[in-house]
Amino acid sequence: MNTVEIKPGIYWVGVNDHQTDYFEGLWPIIEEGVSYNAYLIKDEKNVIIDLAKELSTEELFKQIQKKIHLPDLDYLIINHVEPDHSGAIPALLRVAPNVTLVGTQKTQNMLKCFYGIENRFQVVGDGDELPLGKHTLKFVSTPNVHWPETMMTYETSEQILFTCDAFGSYGALQGGIFDDEVLNKSFYIQEAQRYYSNIVSLFKKAVINAIKKLDQVPVKIIAPSHGLVWRKNPEEIIHLYKQWSEYCLSKSVRQTGITMLVGSMYGNTMNFAESVAQGVADEGVSLKIFDVLKTHTSYILSEVMAQEGIMIGAPTYEGILYPPMAHVLDELVHKRFSAERTVARFGSYGWNGGGIRRLDAITASLRWEIFDTLEFCGGASADEMGKARAFGAAYARLIKEKTRN
Ligand SMILES: Cc1cc2nc3c(=O)[nH]c(=O)nc-3n(C[C@H](O)[C@H](O)[C@H](O)COP(=O)(O)O)c2cc1C
Ligand SMILES: [Fe+2]
Ligand SMILES: [Fe+2]
Repeated sequence: MNTVEIKPGIYWVGVNDHQTDYFEGLWPIIEEGVSYNAYLIKDEKNVIIDLAKELSTEELFKQIQKKIHLPDLDYLIINHVEPDHSGAIPALLRVAPNVTLVGTQKTQNMLKCFYGIENRFQVVGDGDELPLGKHTLKFVSTPNVHWPETMMTYETSEQILFTCDAFGSYGALQGGIFDDEVLNKSFYIQEAQRYYSNIVSLFKKAVINAIKKLDQVPVKIIAPSHGLVWRKNPEEIIHLYKQWSEYCLSKSVRQTGITMLVGSMYGNTMNFAESVAQGVADEGVSLKIFDVLKTHTSYILSEVMAQEGIMIGAPTYEGILYPPMAHVLDELVHKRFSAERTVARFGSYGWNGGGIRRLDAITASLRWEIFDTLEFCGGASADEMGKARAFGAAYARLIKEKTRN
């Protein structure tokens, strides 16, 4: 893409990544892609804020060189050392001999262990300022959004906050970079929600603390290092991040919907799930069904985070819970999606079961309440299918009740 002037002398010089299939080697971006938004401020001192993944180095340098000669770069601000933003640093040091690296004390330590970089570093702390000429940068310490060293950078004259991972999303840019110029903003919001649930959700309390701290800072533009730049309505993405954090902590009411996770070897549990789904539909509650074998956990986490209801249906396999379901639930335990929830469970078995017993341990560690559990042998009878529908309807009524304002 061409570079974009955000404000006089302040440029987006980012790149799209369509080559990486799994963000962090974990989360699919095969269709969506991702952007690494680097920013350049041209002033008496030339500054870049955040870089890109090593893979994108050449393209990134071409972007920067459209605006400045790389040896004329004075500062690189490192908001975050994760290699999706820092991978290009070793190459930068080779072509920009005058650059000083700027970050927190922890950033300095990490640069040593990631890249063996020990000098050309200036440590900054919370509230420190860096005058550039017309522009001044101010640093805001925001630890654990996403790693312990993380900070944000605030440009004081235009009131632009460079937030790195915070307020970011998956999804390569498709021509437009601003919230007010894209026609598919809802795509980026959906991808921001998935990104939040995958990457940031474990650090929900740190996100809330950072947002509280930013309350005192007048912000006209939110410029993250992934996804859209929010200049028309920066409040929108701040509000969404706050809401997702609150969903994770049960501090605000989640949406009136149900996420049903289903796994099935021979179709018995899936068949039963369809009758449960009819019961949910009878009550007019929205439902998304995920086959845990087919849909990557990345997409499931996003829905589970936002919807109040969660139903789990899985058979017994060799005395334990159907393994692909155990895998998804493991991720929910890890992300501490343990805020107040009531879960409905069902599953088929062939002789003495065991799947639901395993599930007991998982739901107990999540501290979720159990609405009810329906187990059946082999294929469900007509009577059991009727019970499945009533079970779905009763659970849907509970979800309506729990989300009534
Ligand atoms: C590989 C395999 C292992 C199984 N292990 C057990 C078991 O340990 N205990 C049990 O009660 N049933 C076991 N079953 C029986 C299934 O739980 C039963 O067939 C159930 O109806 C499968 O539901 P599904 O059609 O939704 O996959 C096993 C079935 C398969 C195919
Ligand atoms: Fe990160
Ligand atoms: Fe990142």
